[in-house]
Amino acid sequence: MKKVALVGYGYWGPNLLRNYIELPGAWVQWVCDSRPEALAKARSRYPAVAGTTDYNEVLGDKDVDAVVLATPISTHFPLAKEALLAGKHVFVEKPMTGSTADAVELVNLARERRLTLMVGHTFVFSPPVRKVKSIIDSGELGEILFVTSSRVNLGLHQKDVSVVWDLAPHDLSILHYWLDETPNSVSVAGRACINPGIPDVAFINLRFPSGVLAELQVAWLSPVKLRRTIVVGSKKMLLYDDTESVEKVKLFDHGVDFKDPETFGEYQLSYRTGDIVSPKIAGTEPLLIEATHFLECLDTGARPITDGLAGLAVVASLEAADYSLHHQGCIQTIDTGTTGS
Ligand SMILES: NC(=O)c1ccc[n+]([C@@H]2O[C@H](COP(=O)([O-])OP(=O)(O)OC[C@H]3O[C@@H](n4cnc5c(N)ncnc54)[C@H](O)[C@@H]3O)[C@@H](O)[C@H]2O)c1
Repeated sequence: MKKVALVGYGYWGPNLLRNYIELPGAWVQWVCDSRPEALAKARSRYPAVAGTTDYNEVLGDKDVDAVVLATPISTHFPLAKEALLAGKHVFVEKPMTGSTADAVELVNLARERRLTLMVGHTFVFSPPVRKVKSIIDSGELGEILFVTSSRVNLGLHQKDVSVVWDLAPHDLSILHYWLDETPNSVSVAGRACINPGIPDVAFINLRFPSGVLAELQVAWLSPVKLRRTIVVGSKKMLLYDDTESVEKVKLFDHGVDFKDPETFGEYQLSYRTGDIVSPKIAGTEPLLIEATHFLECLDTGARPITDGLAGLAVVASLEAADYSLHHQGCIQTIDTGTTGS
């Protein structure tokens, strides 16, 4: 039984706490929020869990094995670092940190101290995203050519971070998981339509070492909610629509074949529109799979799928995207820094 402390009971923390409370392998020892009113809410729902507004009280408790951080992005680095220095395993919400340098420091610290560092890239634990991963890995799509994605809705305008730092971690972590690679470079066009200085729409273009291109649209301004990704391969194509209740993934046996010309200039294209298949997908809550995975990693010492390096790859991509966004969409190289082997 692992003893965990949930830190940050705002919008997202309650979802994490509910899952850890329900897991038989976890005992929630503390809930911590610096705002007394947030803490009171948590305590009224879970009176058996000890509460504190003082993070040091959590870190000073020798019985606590791990902290689960659901606090604002700007606090991730200091809170995670203090926890690792106190000998606690860390689960930290996405994005792992606000800078690549901080991400590198956490990765190295966790490695030196032999502690688990896992990032809340929740979509990596969602059954449809995992189904797409297995389809890509099976080779059924052929060579992956490009990916396009829309994550837009009339969303909550954040006060401290742009839409890039808020929404793009989801798509970047999904791409990192699916393609098993970090993009080389990024170029972003964005605009602050409502709050001056905080972009709420961005079009992010990524190039991967394998040649894959990706275009991500993220916005808090849209008449409808879209969570739609298209993956185009050399053999087949795929649509992942997270707003669909049943058929979230559709595999299209569609494509275009290029026939070698018999004479110069006489090429032929043959278009194929075959079956459309929607695979069965489990309805398990991603957060439950994510929390179970964290506990398993604590028990076995295995490296989490969304480990510190996965968190670092996403943060480095976000940092480069931010730079491009503020420099007229320049093509910015993505540098994940040095973390040793
Ligand atoms: N994985 C996902 O799908 C997902 C979804 C939403 C939010 N998030 C992430 O969750 C994190 C929290 O987001 P949110 O929307 O819940 O924010 P929020 O502002 O609603 O809640 C954060 C809470 O942390 C508390 N807090 C801040 N500093 C603290 C400290 N030093 N010690 C103790 N408590 C402290 C605040 O009082 C607040 O109650 C962010 O990193 C966000 O990106 C992840």
